[in-house]
Amino acid sequence: MYTFTNRFISDHENLEFLKAAMMGPNALRVAEELASSLSIDENMRILDLGCGCGLSTLLLAKKFGASVFAADLWIPPTENYARFQSLGIEDKAVPIFVDATQGLPFAKGYFDVLFTVDAYHYFGDTEDMLPSLIPFVKKGGWIAVAIPGLKYEFGENVPDEMQPFWNSDMKRTLHSLDWWKDLWKRAEGIERMDSGEMACCRQAWEEWLTSHHPFVAEDVKMMEAEGGKYFNFLQLTAKVI
Ligand SMILES: C[S@@+](CC[C@H](N)C(=O)[O-])C[C@H]1O[C@@H](n2cnc3c(N)ncnc32)[C@H](O)[C@@H]1O
Repeated sequence: MYTFTNRFISDHENLEFLKAAMMGPNALRVAEELASSLSIDENMRILDLGCGCGLSTLLLAKKFGASVFAADLWIPPTENYARFQSLGIEDKAVPIFVDATQGLPFAKGYFDVLFTVDAYHYFGDTEDMLPSLIPFVKKGGWIAVAIPGLKYEFGENVPDEMQPFWNSDMKRTLHSLDWWKDLWKRAEGIERMDSGEMACCRQAWEEWLTSHHPFVAEDVKMMEAEGGKYFNFLQLTAKVI
């Protein structure tokens, strides 16, 4: 399932590129698993929402030849344009600044797929967000989301070993699969919702912990404390009707 990712990182320079571009669990691997549940081809136009440094964009443009709008809030489009040029995907990937909470700057029905990796939990945790995104995907198109999550809702009972790491951001953004399913079930305009835990969770986290990002030192301690007991990686997909 991870043929593109494994081949890409078998090259030393690419591996160094990955280490510099990761902003969390290896988005290239997560994107490849998420994409495997869709039928993506080179005729498609995809919104990669919350693309960060564009690892998922790389996967969509290079493995499938799709045209990608690489939209992000924190990473400037100029930085991503330079990265896309270095990867040779600048003709396939349009870097653009987007704050999903402020409405999308696109035509309705413009995208075949709305694809988002390790970002949706930052802005998608309200009842209004999914209904606000659905109109930008054409009828018959797909919404596909991969996010870090919890094996069960902590509520007020945060496990002792997680207490040193738990903060208000994690409390707001990390939820169980059932929590996300309940939120999505309330949205109109989608059908065939499918969801589950992703197989790549552990490997994607281990790869992230090899990156040079300043957050990694703290995440190493957190993942040691977590010990495989509480975190998972979730995927949700739905067809737009
Ligand atoms: C943990 S990073 C992951 C980036 C990338 N998807 C990856 O996995 O490497 C989360 C990303 O979500 C994006 N994000 C957060 N809130 C957003 C919003 N309101 N609109 C668009 N992007 C947002 C940030 O800009 C950031 O790049």
